[in-house]
Amino acid sequence: MSSESNVDSIGQALAAATAAVATAGDADSLRRIANEYSGKQSALVAIKSSLGAMTDVEARKVAGRAVNAALQTLDAVVAERLVALERAAAGHAAASEAMDLTEHLARRSRGHAHIVTQAWERLEDVFVGMGFKVAEGPEVETDFNNFTALNMPPNHPARSNFDTLFVKYGEPGSTLLRTHTSPVQIRVMQEWDLPIYAVMPGRVFRRDTPDATHMPVFHQIEGLVVDKGITFAHLAGTIEAFTKAFFGSEFTSRLRPSYFPFTEPSAEFDVRSANGKWVELGGCGMVHPNVLQAGGIDPEVYTGFAFGFGIDRMAKERHEVADLRDMYANDLRFVRQF
Ligand code: DAH
Repeated sequence: MSSESNVDSIGQALAAATAAVATAGDADSLRRIANEYSGKQSALVAIKSSLGAMTDVEARKVAGRAVNAALQTLDAVVAERLVALERAAAGHAAASEAMDLTEHLARRSRGHAHIVTQAWERLEDVFVGMGFKVAEGPEVETDFNNFTALNMPPNHPARSNFDTLFVKYGEPGSTLLRTHTSPVQIRVMQEWDLPIYAVMPGRVFRRDTPDATHMPVFHQIEGLVVDKGITFAHLAGTIEAFTKAFFGSEFTSRLRPSYFPFTEPSAEFDVRSANGKWVELGGCGMVHPNVLQAGGIDPEVYTGFAFGFGIDRMAKERHEVADLRDMYANDLRFVRQF
């Protein structure tokens, strides 16, 4: 065999091997191809083995260098292909293991609870943390629960403090949209076992023209404790504990004498931060014996305290909203700020 024909066949073998390597789709098939073109049974190794029989020493050297160079080139081509295949596999894994964050992005426009709902839920959390249970009553109430049972019999002057919206149902004036959450006290006293530690959040209604500080529909949370030996000190302590838990330890509360038909004595309570202004929050007092009686509870055995305050006002104060109406206009430029 001449050295030229050897060099030719080496070139052809290398070309065939290089072409085959390029077709390898994964590491396994690459190994098979490498073995086929540079292993013991390969054309290149066969050529290399045949060189020993060449008598022309110079030609043998030339052919030997050529076949070694071809085998080296083939090694390099195989190594390069292997790196490329591994990179592709890693890229594929990265793509399949990548976290899909589209949901995360979408959440930005998903919305959130209204600030009144946020305050409502936080109030519930704080009171539940203090051992209270949560109760809710109907928005359409009887005159009895909303007024009479709360020590405001027909023609009681305090009734006129509530601009009541009546509902056409039953006897005229017997059914109304509750003007406060206090009627839920009556329902809880009638339905629950004693002792009672309850908070009652809900929507209330008054015949008011909307302005910066009034809305015809707003929210209150009522509190009621009935147990043996409950005193005014328990009321004051509860209000103070609530103030610190809800607003923060730098806040404090105070009670001012006041009047409500359903409590005796009655007070209004205010809260303020270390050096801030006092903000009026709501009313409270010792449950009037007539109210306990209306709830089916013996006032000679049990005493209790109650409190009630506006949730909207708390949200308004907390977020420094100037006008209550903004809280219900559903203007997204407003809503998105919270
Ligand atoms: N129901 C009263 C109102 O709407 C608030 C209130 C005052 C509730 C004193 C109470 C209370 O439970 O004891 O103005």
